[in-house]
Amino acid sequence: MRISLSFSLFLLINLAAVVSAADRFSRDDFPPGFVFGSGTSAYQVEGAADQEGRKPSIWDTLTHDGKMHGDNADIACDQYHKFKEDIQLMVETGLEAYRFSVSWSRLIPNGRGLVNPKGLQYYNNLINELISNGIQPHVTLHHSDLPQALEDEYGGWINRKIVYDFTTYADVCFRMFGDKVSHWTTVNEANVFVLEGYDTGFLQPQHCSSPFGVNCTRGNSSTEPYLATHHILLAHASAAVLYKEKYQDKQHGFIGINLFAYWLVPLTNTTEDAIAFQRAMDFLIGWYLDPLIYGDNPDVMKRNVGTRLPTFTNLESNQVKGSFDFLGVNYYSTSYVKDDPSKLEMEVKDFIVDMAVDFKSMTIIQKDSSTSKFTLTPWGLQGLLENFKQVYGNPPIYIHENGQPTQHNSSMEDWPRVKYLYGHIGALLHALRNGSNTKGYFQWSFLDVFEMLDGFESSFGLYCVDLDDPDLKRQPKLSAHWYKHFLKRKGVNSHGFIELEKNLSVLSHAHFF
Ligand SMILES: *[C@@H]1O[C@H](CO)[C@@H](O)[C@H](O)[C@H]1NC(C)=O
Ligand SMILES: *[C@@H]1O[C@H](CO)[C@@H](O)[C@H](O)[C@H]1NC(C)=O
Ligand SMILES: *[C@@H]1O[C@H](CO)[C@@H](O)[C@H](O)[C@H]1NC(C)=O
Ligand SMILES: *[C@@H]1O[C@H](CO)[C@@H](O)[C@H](O)[C@H]1NC(C)=O
Ligand SMILES: *[C@@H]1O[C@H](CO)[C@@H](O)[C@H](O)[C@H]1NC(C)=O
Ligand SMILES: *[C@@H]1O[C@H](CO)[C@@H](O)[C@H](O)[C@H]1NC(C)=O
Repeated sequence: MRISLSFSLFLLINLAAVVSAADRFSRDDFPPGFVFGSGTSAYQVEGAADQEGRKPSIWDTLTHDGKMHGDNADIACDQYHKFKEDIQLMVETGLEAYRFSVSWSRLIPNGRGLVNPKGLQYYNNLINELISNGIQPHVTLHHSDLPQALEDEYGGWINRKIVYDFTTYADVCFRMFGDKVSHWTTVNEANVFVLEGYDTGFLQPQHCSSPFGVNCTRGNSSTEPYLATHHILLAHASAAVLYKEKYQDKQHGFIGINLFAYWLVPLTNTTEDAIAFQRAMDFLIGWYLDPLIYGDNPDVMKRNVGTRLPTFTNLESNQVKGSFDFLGVNYYSTSYVKDDPSKLEMEVKDFIVDMAVDFKSMTIIQKDSSTSKFTLTPWGLQGLLENFKQVYGNPPIYIHENGQPTQHNSSMEDWPRVKYLYGHIGALLHALRNGSNTKGYFQWSFLDVFEMLDGFESSFGLYCVDLDDPDLKRQPKLSAHWYKHFLKRKGVNSHGFIELEKNLSVLSHAHFF
């Protein structure tokens, strides 16, 4: 496989046109303490779903209900058995950190009670192997995979009992793994988990009520998203306070929470759309960050949601306020936002109605496949980080996810992904130079994992996983070589810029084909 010269030239010209954010940079342009990595999550990568004591999570239940094109992650990438091989790939790629999650129902199969020794051993082995290869573990405790047992027993996140059980689970993790883990994230994409799980009901645990979801059998879209968020915030704060009081002095790690963040652009220049932009940010981000930073819900949410919005007692407010060392942010794309006051006249309301805006996506459906491809908006990442700086006092941030999907197995020459990463890492550099307090960047995803919305139809991986091969062979895509090239300039002096426009064909011929 060789890229013809004319093909290369075409791409280079194309690339120069698209990518104007920061034309030359390498790992060396980022501060030494800044960390670069890549990520996955337990359910999406581990496989071994019913092996060695693991019990189902709400995500297993979703896929076994036939959602996700009938695909499931029972085997996935089988990282449970292949973690050593995968860590060698991480070493070759030059990753400084690996972001993964612990499967709660592997460690504590019933959600509470007995710890599974095999689960304990697996995560100890994984963490030890990372450490001995010089890779920092950044560990998430809940990545959309609540133990099904707790969902069945008391309704999971909509019951306040979850706060105690989550804290107990977190305590086991801190006690068993905390001496080696530098960064803990309590809950991944808390805001979107709640909206997909309790408002539209499209994803696990599939709670919704008419007219806001399809085929709803249980739930209440008007109330449960707010209730689940309230409990997530209390559970996060309870675990974070425990960590800070009991472990942080000895273990020297950090703890945070993760949110999904679009950057938003008002559709028009009207004052209404400018206010709608602010309101949407308050709903999507302030919903979590206002309690975490100021100890209370945003005013506009109190006004629009009324009594359906749970309130914090003084005690709770004090516990939640300041209960994070960093914010994890998953950024993929930018969307237009438009004022829609008519929504507030609707009789039955959910989160989207309470927000009273419409979104107009910039994401396009690729003509040549069924895969949605994110329109390249690296400037959106800059806008978002600038907003965190100006509105929320510039908290320490880790970009926990950022990446571009392509159709699974479509091409090993994943130019859209290379362009996407180049554009966004360049934008991040600009944001840093303008004062952003961002501390790290994790590309999503290291391997082609079982995707949240698409199963195996689309993939974000640097490494392809051949699902037809019984051995699930991993193969580097062009993007893996690009990222490696970027990372391995570490230690090279300031003349060692990556000159992507000039060098990509050299790179691809010399290292890949
Ligand atoms: C809703 O239920 C109908 C009838 O069982 C089914 O045909 C349809 O696919 C379901 N829709 C979704 C989104 O699950
Ligand atoms: C949702 O909860 C609210 C407040 O308790 C109640 O008024 C409403 O009827 C509930 N909706 C559904 C679909 O159960
Ligand atoms: C908004 O205003 C700016 C400057 O006044 C103008 O350049 C731009 O075209 C306007 N955008 C829209 C969508 O009207
Ligand atoms: C850089 O930071 C300053 C101060 O916060 C801000 O006014 C300016 O808009 C920022 N520039 C960009 C490109 O974000
Ligand atoms: C998927 O990619 C792998 C690795 O390049 C290849 O061996 C396999 O034949 C591909 N499968 C399909 C269905 O294209
Ligand atoms: C990139 O290009 C520069 C100048 O064109 C050259 O000095 C450098 O060796 C090239 N790097 C690679 C990796 O090809």
